[in-house]
This record gives sequence, C-alpha cells and structure tokens, in this order.
Amino acid sequence: MVEAYKKESNPMMRRPVVLPELVAFMRERQAQLTGELAQLQAFARAQNIPVIPHETVVYFQFLLGLLRPKKILEVGTAIGFSTLLLADSCPNAEITTLERYEEMLIFARKNLSARKNIHLIEGEAAETLEQLTEPFDFIFMDSAKTQYVKFLPRLLALLSADGVLIIDDVFQAGDILQALTEIPRRERNIIKGLNALFDAVFDNPHLQATLVPLGDGLLMIRKK
Ligand SMILES: C[S@@+](CC[C@H](N)C(=O)[O-])C[C@H]1O[C@@H](n2cnc3c(N)ncnc32)[C@H](O)[C@@H]1O
Repeated sequence: MVEAYKKESNPMMRRPVVLPELVAFMRERQAQLTGELAQLQAFARAQNIPVIPHETVVYFQFLLGLLRPKKILEVGTAIGFSTLLLADSCPNAEITTLERYEEMLIFARKNLSARKNIHLIEGEAAETLEQLTEPFDFIFMDSAKTQYVKFLPRLLALLSADGVLIIDDVFQAGDILQALTEIPRRERNIIKGLNALFDAVFDNPHLQATLVPLGDGLLMIRKK
C-alpha cells in the first residue's frame, strides 16, 4: 500500500457523490431562471412534466456557452422547456426539435411558435429522424429510453465530426446496476435498452464518452 494514500486517507472516494442535500443545494443555490423559462419550469414542476432538472439546466447553460453550437437537434420536446433553454443559450443557433405526443405538442406549439429559429417536427422520431440530413453540432436526446440504442446510429450519422451528443436519464435511478430478475417486469425493457446503449457506446473504439451524474445521469458522446 502506498503510505501517502492509506485506506482511510480519502473516505470521500467511498461515499456516494450526489447526496440528496447536495442535489437540493445544486437546485436552490445555483443561479435561478427568470422570465418565460422560469414560468415554464414552475409549470412543469406543478404538472409533473419530466423536464430537465435545474442542475442540468445550469450545466447546459455553461456547456453551450463554451461550445456555441450553430445547429442543434433535440429528440423529445415535451412542452418546449429545454428547447427554449437551448435557444436562449445559443441565440445564433437553428434548433430542430422532435415530439410525437399530442398532449405535449399542444403546449410545445404554443411555447415555440414565436421563435423563428426553432423548428418543431411532429411525429414519431424513428420516422422524423429519417427526414433530417444536415449535420448537427449539438444533439440532445431526451425521449423514450427503450429507443435510445435504436436511435444511436442515426444520431451519430447526423452528428458533425466535432459535435457533442448528450443522452439524458441513463441511470434509471441506479436500476441499471441490478440483475434483470430484480427489476419489475414493466421496467425490464428500459434496463435492457440502457445496458445495450452502454455496450454500443463504451465498446465503440470510434467514440469518446463520459457519464455525468446530473439529474438521472447524462451520457455525453463525441466522435474520436
Ligand atoms: C422527458 S420528456 C422531454 C423533456 C424536455 N426535453 C425538457 O427537458 O423540457 C420526453 C418527451 O419525449 C417524447 N418522446 C418519447 N419518445 C419519442 C419518440 N420516439 N418520438 C418523438 N417523441 C418522443 C415524449 O412524448 C415526451 O414528451
């Protein structure tokens, strides 16, 4: 054993990183949203609509300020909250966002129609993704988790050489670590899909990827 790093010397290494109190701190202490975005965030919370949590909002604002993408693709618009965050963080970008669910589309149309740089494409993403051709330099996938691994090849084909693909909610609250037999039947396809996604990404020598423990886990991918 290296004397300088005795077993007890760094106890933080053996504790979960994101304690509930730290999640609350990230949500409450970091800069808050204002205006339309704050209203939509409050509406989503009140209606239990699963939009990106505040720690991811702040991370995206920071990251997008560095990356400054010009062409953005989002899979999973819901009410358009993250779409407007992308638009406000990248005022010079063209944003294409895909949504299939009429109940969400009613809100998305209302919230996004005034923005000339946002293109809402309605329908099942498996089909609408095939209509797209341009390379995108930032892609955010936040849709049905069983389909992430199915959409991955298409998204990689649409991702520019130096683009970044971010996939949301890949931890399933830690259930990805459980044996399938321990998982309720209704959740098994999600776990299978997420593990197939990890295999497809982490075992691909042409991709560089990192997991970021924000929200329910972000998977960030770029081409080598
Ligand atoms: C988690 S919500 C998106 C939240 C949004 N990105 C935000 O943070 O504001 C996921 C959305 O993806 C949509 N969705 C799921 N699978 C889809 C698919 N295959 N094609 C199109 N939309 C899909 C759902 O209808 C739902 O509105």
